[in-house]
Amino acid sequence: MIKRGDLYFPTKDFKKKAWLKDKKIYREAQKDPIKFWENLANELSWRKKWKKVFEHKPPYFKWFVAGKLNITENIFEKNSQGWEEIKNKTAIIWEPEPEKEKPIILTYQELFQRVNKLANGLKKLGVKKGDRVGIYLPMIPEVIISMLACARIGAVHTVVFSAFSSHALQIRLQDTEAKILITADGYYRRGQIINLKQAADEGIKETNVEKVLVVKRAGNQVSWDKNHDLWWHELVGKESDQCQPEIMDSEDPFFILYTSGSTGKPKGILHTCGGYTVQAKFTGKWIFDLKEDDILWCTSDVGWITGITYTAYSPLLNGVPTLFFEGAPDWPAPDRWAKIIEKHKVTTFYTAPTAIRMFEKYGTKVIEKYKFESLQLLGSVGEPIDESAWLWYFKEVGKERCPIVDTWWQTETGGILITSLPGIGPFKPAFTGLPFPGVKVEILNEKGKPCKENEAGNLVLLPPFAPGLLRGIYKNPQKYLETYWSQYGKKIYFTSDGAIIDKNGLIRIIGRVDDVIKMAGHRLSTGELEAAVNFHPDITECAVIGIPDEIKGEAPVVFIVYKGQKSVDEVKKEVIEHIKEEIGPIALPKEIYLVEDLPKTRSGKIMRRILKKLFTRATAKGEEEDKSSSPTDQELGDLSTLANPESVDELKKIIGKK
Ligand code: WTA
Repeated sequence: MIKRGDLYFPTKDFKKKAWLKDKKIYREAQKDPIKFWENLANELSWRKKWKKVFEHKPPYFKWFVAGKLNITENIFEKNSQGWEEIKNKTAIIWEPEPEKEKPIILTYQELFQRVNKLANGLKKLGVKKGDRVGIYLPMIPEVIISMLACARIGAVHTVVFSAFSSHALQIRLQDTEAKILITADGYYRRGQIINLKQAADEGIKETNVEKVLVVKRAGNQVSWDKNHDLWWHELVGKESDQCQPEIMDSEDPFFILYTSGSTGKPKGILHTCGGYTVQAKFTGKWIFDLKEDDILWCTSDVGWITGITYTAYSPLLNGVPTLFFEGAPDWPAPDRWAKIIEKHKVTTFYTAPTAIRMFEKYGTKVIEKYKFESLQLLGSVGEPIDESAWLWYFKEVGKERCPIVDTWWQTETGGILITSLPGIGPFKPAFTGLPFPGVKVEILNEKGKPCKENEAGNLVLLPPFAPGLLRGIYKNPQKYLETYWSQYGKKIYFTSDGAIIDKNGLIRIIGRVDDVIKMAGHRLSTGELEAAVNFHPDITECAVIGIPDEIKGEAPVVFIVYKGQKSVDEVKKEVIEHIKEEIGPIALPKEIYLVEDLPKTRSGKIMRRILKKLFTRATAKGEEEDKSSSPTDQELGDLSTLANPESVDELKKIIGKK
């Protein structure tokens, strides 16, 4: 890239071959965003054309009304690149965690056959259009095959991240009322076999699940109940490799993915068929500049939206191979990820700032010998990327050659909505960039007025919303209204992110303005964590806050009021167990404090703001070797509204000790 002032631009060579190189695309899209999205939709294969492009009945809206399609037709037999062109091309490259195991590479044709076989198998199990299917699988080829097989027959998939606990699985299965769960015996993680079937057995208790389809992956011993367990290979073995696609209405439910919000219970984000497909295809094509010879490695698990859209659907809709990996990127050695890039000649690498900071911390020496000549483009997602991580990524991985697309979006948006385009730019470290063409955003102050340059406010989306934006929270219209359409009225989508805009129109994301923590790019809610901690019988009160973390961006810290007899260490251990059981090991706190009391207002509300200030100040001072000092009351804000100001003194002492 070329640097001009504090901005970066693509090189001439990159620009020359990029899909988009001219700023006029922004003007065109802005003039008539509805027409713009319609033109893109026209490039897909539809069974029936829509009657109306966009319909808005706030807070609900529809895209491509009465249009009919099936996403798998657009991936396989009617792929825009032509079926004859792509059927023998690589569709998926799977890298297992054990290095001695061979990768699995499937062509589009081979993938198609496997999808059809499973689709027929699912039909035999009684799965029909609109039925929900739970998918609790690790990153193995069958997870993508399962998603596509559901899509083929119009079943609504709910992928549950394999590192979520059985309890997290159970509440998702209960909410969706899924009758089928697809899982595996086990998988490899950091050299260990994780027994996934055991968690699945627990998770299906008190749900409607009638059949559990089990992939044999790790060959570990599993318990078996003939009444509901079935081996995947036995089911699909007998099935035909052809299956007609179910013709879906543009607004038929496509998938549900649960995510965390401000309150304890995860929300089932509902995406529909038409709009999502259009957005997944074109954001991938233009933002990652996907061409025939590219190989995309998006490191996200398909248990998160980034994996669903950019590990699975988007590359396949674009006829490009998608690489995915079973294990942790630094296992068995810190250069595993670098080895994978070189081995498979990855051209497009898309990861989270946490991973970048982790690689950076391992040191440049670890990757000295890698030239990364195949890389053309880098991406970042999930949390703000700080300038130093950006520069390291740019220099050490992209060799100052590759553009970095810092992509902002959410589970709710289905696809990327903000990032500068690689053939156009401009790019600026720590700034996500310009809204995607056809996307209207604004930054508003509390009164609903647009913020000035560099003034922080709330990021919102304006109509016509990008076609992939959520259509609802499953079975919870009230929550949909409250969460997204109440702060500024029913016509403005509230993102829950704080942001600023600079003089070039580039957007910088500051972070969430609600109680969501982004730890290692994973979305966790403090409410959900508090509910898990409160599950402990001796704990009556707790508060969870997110605090800055050098590697993970943010991390939870737990404060507990404990009046029982157990030792501090014992209580901490039990709390950790509860979090693991309720959510999973990804939600483990950075610190746990046992306290006498929590600062509260007279009406009984816990003042998390004060906890956050106390903690952040104490740790910052600690680093400056001034452990004795603690925040002054002035820094903490007005304490006079507290019912128990003495609790602050106790907290100062406890946190200061660390
Ligand atoms: C945050 C992940 C800064 C943001 C795709 C958002 C980001 C939340 C970025 C959604 C980025 C996502 N820069 N922050 N490039 N991308 N976020 O639902 O706070 O897991 O609201 O979707 O991640 O997280 P989710």
